[in-house]
Amino acid sequence: MDMASSSLQRLAMMPVQVSRSSRNVAVIGAGAAGLVAARELRREGHKVVVYEQGQKVGGTWIYDPNAESDPLGLDPSRAIVQSSLYDSLRTNLPREVMGFRDYPFVAKEGKGRDPRRFPGHREVFLYLEDFARDFEILEFVRFETEVLHVGMEEGKWIVKSRKRAGADGDDPLIDSDEVYDGVVICNGHFTEPRIAEIPGIDSWPGKQMHSHNYRVPDPFRDQVVVLIGSSSSGADISRDIARVAKEVHIAVRSITNETIGKQPGYENIWLHSMIKGAHGDGTVVFQDGSSVLPDVVLHCTGYKYHFPFLDTHDIVTVDDNRVGPLYKHVFPPLLAPWLSFIGLPWKVIPLPMFEFQSKWVAGVLSGRIVLPLPKEMMEDVENFYSKLEAAGWPKRYTHNMADYQFEYNDWLATECGCSVSEEWRKQMYEATGRSKQARPETYRDLWEDQNLISQANEDFPQYKLR
Ligand SMILES: Cc1cc2nc3c(=O)[nH]c(=O)nc-3n(C[C@H](O)[C@H](O)[C@H](O)COP(=O)(O)OP(=O)(O)OC[C@H]3O[C@@H](n4cnc5c(N)ncnc54)[C@H](O)[C@@H]3O)c2cc1C
Ligand SMILES: NC(=O)c1ccc[n+]([C@@H]2O[C@H](COP(=O)([O-])OP(=O)(O)OC[C@H]3O[C@@H](n4cnc5c(N)ncnc54)[C@H](OP(=O)(O)O)[C@@H]3O)[C@@H](O)[C@H]2O)c1
Repeated sequence: MDMASSSLQRLAMMPVQVSRSSRNVAVIGAGAAGLVAARELRREGHKVVVYEQGQKVGGTWIYDPNAESDPLGLDPSRAIVQSSLYDSLRTNLPREVMGFRDYPFVAKEGKGRDPRRFPGHREVFLYLEDFARDFEILEFVRFETEVLHVGMEEGKWIVKSRKRAGADGDDPLIDSDEVYDGVVICNGHFTEPRIAEIPGIDSWPGKQMHSHNYRVPDPFRDQVVVLIGSSSSGADISRDIARVAKEVHIAVRSITNETIGKQPGYENIWLHSMIKGAHGDGTVVFQDGSSVLPDVVLHCTGYKYHFPFLDTHDIVTVDDNRVGPLYKHVFPPLLAPWLSFIGLPWKVIPLPMFEFQSKWVAGVLSGRIVLPLPKEMMEDVENFYSKLEAAGWPKRYTHNMADYQFEYNDWLATECGCSVSEEWRKQMYEATGRSKQARPETYRDLWEDQNLISQANEDFPQYKLR
């Protein structure tokens, strides 16, 4: 057994209950998750360093008009662009629902602010900047510092990072190795593209790209586009492109109650079953037998969890997009509470969930909140996996929390001793879902839940900064 493995074993044997104390904690990433994690860790009395490879806080919400060099995102040596935002993107949640619980995302006066209820992406970036400034988190963030390796030695975490050279190239790269009691991973999971496998695609002569690299519709003018996937990106981007493209054909593998064929309200959008194959003559054939001659195949097929810097000696793995084993999607039982993940669940309201998870991690690290024994946490995870399997859910849906996010949040709240999700937030989320389903083109500008908005606005004034 090598030294690293034996120190791993020692870590795994450590009792999960820790004496109430302040810890040295590294947070990887200064997006929404890293910011709220840093705030909660500070509130709990921990010492925090936030590593951020970019120049600003905000992660996903820092729109970058430049896409990556490889439009499919397959080249491992490409320079990574973190954000997958496109120019026209507006939030798909109303601001009352979307914001952190104790820092409401209310409309603000000021140059460049967007007061709409479902604002454009820049408004979210400004909100996160405000959050970081108001909670004095910026002073703990090391910008332009990429984490290259996180691993364990002698029961501690070693974080190896590299500070980027100055723009003029005069400053040298600075490599550091630092030691922490705990590491909280907040590196986001909407950056590494997942691509659909298409039989025959290697001989197909057209262009392919992933929605991660989609910014504006102009390059698709007068083109025939096959777009794969009908979740949020597929739905939004297909409409964006249809404004200029000749034809947009959407290929979907999990067809629900949508109708195959020409889409109502559009002259140039068709819905199809999944692609059966692509051919050297340029045709793309769908499983229903129909075929088209597209210029581009655009994969709106989502993203992969990716932790290129993390070395846990396979205690935590990513298998078909399942990050595990993780107790309640946060703590690996054998490494708890010294390693944690904030923000893995999807099909959720992200920011308030990040806030609950962060409170939990901070409280467990200080010893205020006690975790079950590693064996018990592992049993909980195994039971959870068995239930997923019995329900016929693929592994890749492990962190899909569409059916129980509020139950999960309320469980976390109870563990943390804080109030559960507001009733208006739950109802507003459901109302938005119904409205989006019924009126996908207009739900961001027309709504019927005014009574819930009033309830939210009655709630918000209680949240004064500290
Ligand atoms: C297209 C799109 C639209 C969305 N729309 C909405 C919406 O309308 N409403 C909503 O609530 N949510 C939306 N989301 C979800 C969104 O991802 C979350 O709101 C949230 O921004 C995620 O924050 P995060 O901190 O987990 O990740 P990110 O925002 O991705 O932040 C991760 C941070 O980690 C840094 N990082 C990564 N690796 C390293 C490293 N090795 N070293 C140092 N730093 C590193 C990155 O630079 C980045 O700043 C959307 C997501 C996408 C992709
Ligand atoms: N603010 C906004 O309006 C907005 C816009 C875009 C995105 N977003 C957010 O961004 C995040 C990512 O959304 P996303 O739409 O990019 O990804 P996503 O939600 O993961 O959806 C990916 C889609 O691609 C399908 N898919 C995946 N692999 C496939 C394959 N091999 N073959 C065929 N189909 C495949 C999936 O189908 P299965 O379900 O069958 O796997 C799913 O429908 C979400 O949190 C979303 O809310 C928000």
